[in-house]
Amino acid sequence: MSGESAPSLTFTSASPSDTKRLGERLSRHLQPGDVVLLQGDLGAGKTCLAQGIGRGLRVKEPVKSSSFVLVNEYNGRLHVHHADLFRLTDPQQVFELALEENAADGLLLVEWPEVAPRELPPEHLLVRFEIVDARTRRITMAARGARYKDVLNALNAPTPEKTHGRA
Ligand SMILES: Nc1ncnc2c1ncn2[C@@H]1O[C@H](COP(=O)(O)OP(=O)(O)OP(=O)(O)O)[C@@H](O)[C@H]1O
Ligand SMILES: [Mg+2]
Repeated sequence: MSGESAPSLTFTSASPSDTKRLGERLSRHLQPGDVVLLQGDLGAGKTCLAQGIGRGLRVKEPVKSSSFVLVNEYNGRLHVHHADLFRLTDPQQVFELALEENAADGLLLVEWPEVAPRELPPEHLLVRFEIVDARTRRITMAARGARYKDVLNALNAPTPEKTHGRA
């Protein structure tokens, strides 16, 4: 899943709640049909970021690591399809999940996309997690496709300061 360089943003997270807040921030810029791939070692924080996205989309139930279920679905501002491909070994199994088709009306989040990169949409936001130390994660978001450049630009734009007093 490497290759040509793509516009990217890098964040440093100092705690699980930092990572959740980043997911929440990202969620504000997501729309139906978007695809976010979450790549990183075991315990790197992929599900943690997905939980923040779920919170930002006002999903009621907690977003979990699915031990047996390959795809969990949640309803919030967007219909979330959260897939974990860790246990799959054959790209054909991923093909059979028809993730892109099933999630076309909502948001597709995929953990362990490297199991079957060719079975996943070529245009996506690739989020890479690196474990720096016990509490620190380096999180890099790279845009694959014009839609995701827009997402990164929106995420990078300064948030308007809250104004106090008379308008
Ligand atoms: N800055 C951080 N951001 C996210 N998680 C952190 C951070 N610091 C420590 N952690 C811990 O790292 C773990 C991340 O777990 P999480 O389930 O999100 O990983 P994952 O990448 O989804 O792993 P898996 O591949 O097993 O699904 C949690 O135990 C969390 O408390
Ligand atoms: Mg996980």
